[in-house]
Amino acid sequence: MDEPIRESGPHLADLLRDALTGDGPLYRQLADALRQAVDRGEIPLGTVLPPERALARALAVSRATVVAAYDRLKTDGWLESRQGSGTWVRTPDEGDAGSDAVATGRLFLSVGGGEQRSGPGEPADDAPADVVDLSVAAVTGSPIVNEVLASLTPEDIAPLTAHHGYVPQGLRALRDHVAQRFTDDGLPTGAEQVVVTTGAHQGISLVARQLLRPGDTVLVESPTFPGALDVFRRFGARPVPVPVDEHGVRVDLLEDLIVRSDPRLFYVSPHFHNPTGTVLPAERRAVIAELSRTRRLPVLEDLAMADVVLDDVDLPPAIAAYDPDAPIHTLGSTAKLFWAGMRVGWVRSPADTAARTLAVKTVADLGSPLVSQLLALRLLERREEVQAERRAELRPRRDHLAALLAEHLPEWSFTLPAGGLSLWCTLPRGNAEEFAELAGRHGVTVVPGPALSVDEGNRRALRLVFASPTADLDEGVRRLAQAWTGYSAASEHRPASRLLV
Ligand SMILES: Cc1ncc(COP(=O)(O)O)c(C=O)c1O
Repeated sequence: MDEPIRESGPHLADLLRDALTGDGPLYRQLADALRQAVDRGEIPLGTVLPPERALARALAVSRATVVAAYDRLKTDGWLESRQGSGTWVRTPDEGDAGSDAVATGRLFLSVGGGEQRSGPGEPADDAPADVVDLSVAAVTGSPIVNEVLASLTPEDIAPLTAHHGYVPQGLRALRDHVAQRFTDDGLPTGAEQVVVTTGAHQGISLVARQLLRPGDTVLVESPTFPGALDVFRRFGARPVPVPVDEHGVRVDLLEDLIVRSDPRLFYVSPHFHNPTGTVLPAERRAVIAELSRTRRLPVLEDLAMADVVLDDVDLPPAIAAYDPDAPIHTLGSTAKLFWAGMRVGWVRSPADTAARTLAVKTVADLGSPLVSQLLALRLLERREEVQAERRAELRPRRDHLAALLAEHLPEWSFTLPAGGLSLWCTLPRGNAEEFAELAGRHGVTVVPGPALSVDEGNRRALRLVFASPTADLDEGVRRLAQAWTGYSAASEHRPASRLLV
């Protein structure tokens, strides 16, 4: 076999430097420049690229920028790498995901250059040592998780190990509990309608696999949970945005969108929407349920955030409760209240499709881990206690972050959510992706709106997660304000939103 061409850092930097003067985050400009150089034949297929550090040095950018650019191109199928062989150029084939395929991964890349590549407790080698992370909408495990875990006895485990352990539908006692909770909350449910999943994330996949074929359209709120966008795109579907307002998804636009885009699914988060925190009013839920039945449009409602209640609000019943004959699937999770590390969620399907959901789950993995399910059940039995504990912890953090923003970033606007884990902020000017990248360099990670949007929309929005201790919020906002001072002045004095630092 011929030796591959090996690009040196300085030579490649010469090829690319001139292209790095446009708009948007630097890693993206670098990725685009590399791809265009491949398109023009300046970098032949099979060329081995210089190590990230060498290219970073030659271009005088951070290594994180090059890592993020290489990662983007790997996701899109333009680069491949193997330990010991380096990173080389290829062309995407049909199996590659397409340019926007990994929103959740990209989300981390777009906010400061790959800190999330490290394992727990290991900082990435060129990230600031003490990055304040306001980007991940998740909580550390409740102390009650540790307590319940430590309290499990051999007698608790013995009934599980006495069985061979393949239970695709999930532990009966857990399904009974979940079904009873739905019923108590106004959505009559039998245990046979519930399938336990490896997180709500897998629930999204199970429903997508049942319903979507390549080329299908899925209506999604914009912004939305980016993991759902990843799943829909993996199945070859095309997400179409449905705008939201301060009360949640704009149902007045829905019928028209259904007619125009002929969707196969509508994905919606009615309880404490991630990232906006809105609770969808009962009337809008009723409209969705009715449209679902009359148009035979399957709906996937995601209640993953539903138990993170911070203020006294009336939560209307799940959308499925408004029309028992509508094809509506409902997801739940233990991640946001208790701990994501258990990886336990569930999907409730309409009675006539529950068997199909179970079949898809069986093919996916033959069932979720039973010990986690037992832990989840014990925790769900103490849900109200954990909810009180979370509220006592998170509500002051939410209010603290809101007060810090009002004091140090008074031009930013947001609505205080009654639940969930984040503030959805609007910048008065500039571009949220650029600003998030700059904030990353000041040592604070936040998620820009386009990373949570279908069409790279919400360009002036940022998601700030308030789950961290108040000292971290203090430092995070101090850094954000510092970054904003320079950014805001620069963006006021230029026509297009181009980052000058
Ligand atoms: C709306 C929504 N759905 C699903 C998930 C994933 O939940 P799980 O950890 O249960 O897979 C998240 C996590 O951020 C979320 O915000």
